[in-house]
Amino acid sequence: MLATMRTKIIGGNWKMNTDRAGAAALSAAVAGAVKGVAGVETAVFPPFPYLLPVAEALKGSGVLLGAQDVYHAEKGAFTGEVSVGMLKDCGVGIVLAGHSERRHVMGEGDDLVNLKVRAALHGGLSVVLCVGETLHQRQVEETNHVNEKHVRLGLRTVTPEELRRVVIAYEPVWAIGTGKTATPDDAQEAHAHIRAVVGDMFGKEAAGALRIQYGGSVTAANARSLMGMPDVDGALVGGASLKADEFGAIVAAAG
Ligand code: 13P
Repeated sequence: MLATMRTKIIGGNWKMNTDRAGAAALSAAVAGAVKGVAGVETAVFPPFPYLLPVAEALKGSGVLLGAQDVYHAEKGAFTGEVSVGMLKDCGVGIVLAGHSERRHVMGEGDDLVNLKVRAALHGGLSVVLCVGETLHQRQVEETNHVNEKHVRLGLRTVTPEELRRVVIAYEPVWAIGTGKTATPDDAQEAHAHIRAVVGDMFGKEAAGALRIQYGGSVTAANARSLMGMPDVDGALVGGASLKADEFGAIVAAAG
């Protein structure tokens, strides 16, 4: 019964793609493409320099403006970083934390991810905490262990009240940008385990209300079968989110 209460949420993570004109055009096209779809939450995560033009293009569309990262300090000598306050000032409502490319390319660890999660939640933002195993970790059957660690450390000291603004994205690293997707059964198994871990931390009811997105080579062709699984509450889309039609079809598949 709880599963039916979870509104699906689809995010488009543009990563380090688009340019100023392209970002504005893509967001306007996304706003148009998702217009007729009811009952699905949608967000786009453009690169930092394009937040303002995208905010402008999304006005009145109901599509949430997201950021790909945030730093936990309020202000000061942190060259290259962006604060929660700055993001809110640009109209951002939701932020990614611990994306696999931050973890594996930039070397972010669970402690830093946790500081970011807490700062964003304290500041009133919603957070998508990204978790997931590498190919090697899957091969040695550490998937559940890795996800559990990312969840327990990522959500450390988060309050039950704050958890309502948290979404978890399960993104197996081997499925990101590779065209390889977890099977719906594999995704379901990982999601169910993540939900059980959250249940252990916050209680069954809170875990039942938490939305868990799948990410990793989601397309219009595979979205429906993935999101048809009982614990898959949406998708975090990379490559396919750069085409408004394809992204719109994924959102429609969730509707
Ligand atoms: P792809 O959809 O390109 O595999 O990327 C997934 C992802 O990392 C979304 O955050």
